Amino acid sequence: MSFMAVIIMNVILVVITVILAIADKLLVSYGTCKITVDREGEDKEDFDVEGGDNLLTYLTDKGIEINSSCGGKGSCGYCKCIITSGGGMILPTEEIYMSRQEKAEGMRLACQVKVKQDMEILIPNFLTIIRQMVVNKKFDPNKRWLVKIK
Ligand code: FES
Repeated sequence: MSFMAVIIMNVILVVITVILAIADKLLVSYGTCKITVDREGEDKEDFDVEGGDNLLTYLTDKGIEINSSCGGKGSCGYCKCIITSGGGMILPTEEIYMSRQEKAEGMRLACQVKVKQDMEILIPNFLTIIRQMVVNKKFDPNKRWLVKIK
């Protein structure tokens, strides 16, 4: 009897989730949002998007390089960027990949951030940072999440 109740409860939750996802896609419009991108060592650039999708999608669509190895599923933690404005609150799915300092700096996972308004972001050049660490023999792969940006 209780097994049947669990199944019914799960079915109800799935139906509610699907309804909310559909309603979000069809009823909510975030309008045109401007994304301003600052890549370390390069000129700032900006572009307009129709809000509602995640930041990683817009960046890759625009051909802006950002690390990712899970395809935006939120499981690799490589798509880190600093959102200086317009990012909202950090999500629990992002927190496990962030140190306290990174959270304080506004670091986010681009694949988890939904674009709902104008946004300014800084994409750190992790590759150069890690290359320098390897050359200086100070790279500890067990501490790769603790790479300092500044
Ligand atoms: S792309 Fe893997 S966590 Fe964002």
